[in-house]
Amino acid sequence: MANIEDIKKELSNIKYPGFAKSIVEFGFVKDIQVNGSEASILLDITSSAQEVEDQLRKEIGAAMSSIGVNATLSFNKPQAPKQQSNSTSGQNMAPQIKKVVMVSSGKGGVGKSTTTVNLAIATAMQGKRVGILDADVYGPNIPRMMGLNGQEPEIVGNKAKPLNAYGVDVMSMGVLMEEGQALIWRGAMIMKAIQQLLRDILWEELDVLFIDMPPGTGDAQLTLAQSVPVAAGINVTTPQHVALDDSRRSLDMFKKLHIPIAGIVENMSGFICPSCNTESDIFGMGTCEELASQYNTQVLGNLPIEPAIREGGDSGKPVTYFNPESVSAKRYMMAAEKLINFIDNQDEVSNEAIQPTMPAGVSACSTEGQRIKAEQEAAKKSGGSCGTGCGCH
Ligand SMILES: Nc1ncnc2c1ncn2[C@@H]1O[C@H](COP(=O)(O)OP(=O)(O)OP(=O)(O)O)[C@@H](O)[C@H]1O
Ligand SMILES: [Mg+2]
Repeated sequence: MANIEDIKKELSNIKYPGFAKSIVEFGFVKDIQVNGSEASILLDITSSAQEVEDQLRKEIGAAMSSIGVNATLSFNKPQAPKQQSNSTSGQNMAPQIKKVVMVSSGKGGVGKSTTTVNLAIATAMQGKRVGILDADVYGPNIPRMMGLNGQEPEIVGNKAKPLNAYGVDVMSMGVLMEEGQALIWRGAMIMKAIQQLLRDILWEELDVLFIDMPPGTGDAQLTLAQSVPVAAGINVTTPQHVALDDSRRSLDMFKKLHIPIAGIVENMSGFICPSCNTESDIFGMGTCEELASQYNTQVLGNLPIEPAIREGGDSGKPVTYFNPESVSAKRYMMAAEKLINFIDNQDEVSNEAIQPTMPAGVSACSTEGQRIKAEQEAAKKSGGSCGTGCGCH
């Protein structure tokens, strides 16, 4: 009957796949237990590849049979590396953009646009090719915050080129509409506007496109999520809004839209006194930590109320670019680092699960005849409109 030494001898003839040395020489055989003709062998190998384990199982099994041993094998091996992929699936109106990041909040006025601008600049300063799409059709203020007020985009054919400031490409409804022009936006118009901002703008190849959303959880958010796979959702909130459950609404929306949550930005979370530079707690700093853990996410940053942030926004000179040594700029840089880490290490993002149930070209405002026609056409190509200018396509 075979003993441990016999088994070891057989194992010392088995080469580690792809190498000249045996598994015994490598020290991969960690434990051998024998009980009559039964043996259990534990191996600790350095490869996560299944083929390596399979080949070893085959060779060891054959070697053990040759000496009348029925061996049970167990393997310790490293975790397979997480699949890193920039690929996306589902509908994608802007495939030249690697990662779309949706910046959202349950309530208005909490600092979404300020966060978008500074995070985008901080991300660009870390070597990424970055754009901002201002999807806040109700109050587009990214152009002002980026110092682009009054600038007109270059038109090429029937498309517009984004503007550029501080190394970031920018497009906004505010650039395309007459200043002060008031529009009453209906659901279908918002959907059309968002899709045009993705499809009819000449976005270059970008690593990250930040989208500043209108406040709340409505048509704009759903349309965006259906039009491009969104790689990350960022929720901007203030500590007092956490208590009011507003921020939960936007986090719940990310979950419903299958948008991976990159984290929460706790804005106005304390006050930095401009004269003595001390940080004091006003609304209750740090309340977002608990919220983040409830949603299995992280706090990307705690941004204090700092006059330089507001001044930077009003004057079009963002604090992260113009005052990089400030506390706020450093926190935006750290938040950008966390975000980059999140999107660079995620699996494939898909928006397949949130595609409209109606075929492309059909909206709730289509008449029955048009709906049938559009359905037929949609089978061949996406297209069709009810022709009323309602914005259904
Ligand atoms: N951390 C901060 N410190 C000082 N001022 C800030 C800070 N964050 C935002 N602000 C100021 O608060 C105001 C509202 O911010 P912002 O416009 O970014 O909010 P918003 O969520 O985009 O608002 P809306 O919902 O109206 O689009 C702006 O004047 C901005 O400069
Ligand atoms: Mg805003």
